[in-house]
Amino acid sequence: MEKEQLIFIDDSVRAWLASLDDIIPALIDEMVTTTKKNRFDLVTNVDKTIQQRFQQFLTETFPEHQLFAEEKTNEEVHPHEGHVWIMDPIDGTANLVKQQEDYCIILGYFVDGVPMLSYIYDYPHGKLYKAVKGYGAYVNGAPLEKPESIELKDAVVSFNALVINANKMQELFDASFSHRFIGSCGLDSVRVINGQFGLHINTNPKPWDIAAQFLFASELGLKMTTLDNKPLDYATAGPFIISNPGCHEEMLDVLNSGAGYKK
Ligand code: IPD
Ligand code: CA
Ligand code: CA
Repeated sequence: MEKEQLIFIDDSVRAWLASLDDIIPALIDEMVTTTKKNRFDLVTNVDKTIQQRFQQFLTETFPEHQLFAEEKTNEEVHPHEGHVWIMDPIDGTANLVKQQEDYCIILGYFVDGVPMLSYIYDYPHGKLYKAVKGYGAYVNGAPLEKPESIELKDAVVSFNALVINANKMQELFDASFSHRFIGSCGLDSVRVINGQFGLHINTNPKPWDIAAQFLFASELGLKMTTLDNKPLDYATAGPFIISNPGCHEEMLDVLNSGAGYKK
């Protein structure tokens, strides 16, 4: 793809993201929450409206681009062909509902299976993280450095404690420096991207939870793999780790040793 075309798409999408600042406060004021699969699986008018608006933006601006997103069926989408946007309109919906903080919008743009642009918009903190294929990663336009190497013993590690068995949890606490979990796959990943956390693990992510992270990882020298240390397919997702290169292998060794991590 021509550089000019990529810049045009980036400018257009950033302008669209900025337009959300005008509508999110009112959407939150009149928030309507419903459940999906169970009482913990929430969706709100904020999620639905943001996704509808992005679909409308694509239809008007880039009509040949497909949208693969959480709050739709995606049956008609061919995720490895042509221009594809993968979107989580709100990642961390439970945080939005319970705390009005620690949620983000995730967007990953792929052309014939190659990640070209990525965005993680931390709206409550006014921070837009962006990665551009071949041109690095940025926060609010300022370049992000590649994080320095972190050994597991010095690393803050992030995972949902509810999905790891008690024995493995203790092993992970012993092997690392400490544990933190924000509850938004995008923002837990941002901590790794910023060099604050050593790693983030999600044992059951969907494509929209991890779509943007591929390009941040490749532009910043981070590791992003399955929990068996294999390549990940963005269209199917599944258990994943995004990690500082200094602790990736050791973490997977600890995680998979003995009886493993599953409950
Ligand atoms: C969830 C969050 C959470 C992660 C779940 C995701 P949602 O996304 O990222 O941190 O543990 O696996 O489903 O439902 O808020 O978009
Ligand atoms: Ca999500
Ligand atoms: Ca979501």
